[in-house]
Amino acid sequence: MPATPISSDRKTKGILLAGGLGTRLAPLTTALSKQLLPIYDKPLIYYPLSTLMLAGIRDINVISSPEHLPMFRTLLGTGEQWGLDFEYTVQDKPAGVAQAITLSRDWLDGARSALALGDNILYSTGLTGLLKDTLKFESGAVCFAYPVGNASAFGVVEFAEDGRILSLEEKPKKPRSNWAVTGLYFYDNTAPDRVARLKPSARGELEITDLNRSYLEDGALSSVRLPRGATWLDTGTLDGLVNAGEWVRAIERQQGFKIAAPEEIAWRNGWIDDDALRALAKSYKSEYGKYLKALLRSPQG
Ligand code: G1P
Repeated sequence: MPATPISSDRKTKGILLAGGLGTRLAPLTTALSKQLLPIYDKPLIYYPLSTLMLAGIRDINVISSPEHLPMFRTLLGTGEQWGLDFEYTVQDKPAGVAQAITLSRDWLDGARSALALGDNILYSTGLTGLLKDTLKFESGAVCFAYPVGNASAFGVVEFAEDGRILSLEEKPKKPRSNWAVTGLYFYDNTAPDRVARLKPSARGELEITDLNRSYLEDGALSSVRLPRGATWLDTGTLDGLVNAGEWVRAIERQQGFKIAAPEEIAWRNGWIDDDALRALAKSYKSEYGKYLKALLRSPQG
């Protein structure tokens, strides 16, 4: 019986940026892409991919370097097995996060976009509802803010008392707030033209913060403050990577559910049917396969 999609957003296309040299993690990243490193039981890229899937997004452009892109193809395939449609795009040189929009321009073909950085992990109860509600935005752009203790390591957003955004800064020495901008952004179809007008920053990159500031200057940027119960993990450092793996292991062992299993999300969204999930479960001779099989017997865990 074919699966009936119960929730998908084909007006918005997803962009998954898995570029960068991962220099801060060498030698782990000497032969391997950072976004393929393990976060406990899954490659890192599964986590931001899951965020896009939870938002109902099924058309996704995976961007990586010429060396690493073939590995992502091996891991993710066409996407059909998960009810998705992957596009793959080479980023010859890492020239900034905003370049992902330019590289996606033709493929976007006038669609709105949801850009997810391949090394960000977002987890929260009610995340699906929050993402879907946020995706109802008419025009402009939306970013997601999360309180941190080390704001100068990130893009930082400053809010007025009424919630309006006052300023946006990329890795400021003296942050004006403790709200970091996370690596998930929703854009209307003006984003490619806006990026075309950006100038590279002092570090020679097309900064995503500059794209967001272009929306802010037009009064077209809003920011969702993630709830206190949400978890946002940046895996850019060795400790960040290890902490994320330990966190996933703790939650999964405690609850018996897996975080960010694309097969499970596709199945729960009605994008693949029981038979497809059974076949995927069989293809893994591991505990991961057993978990997928058990979902069919007891979906609530
Ligand atoms: C990028 C963005 C930054 C954002 C961060 C989230 O920084 O430039 O604004 O806060 O991702 O992970 P990068 O990690 O590329 O230095």
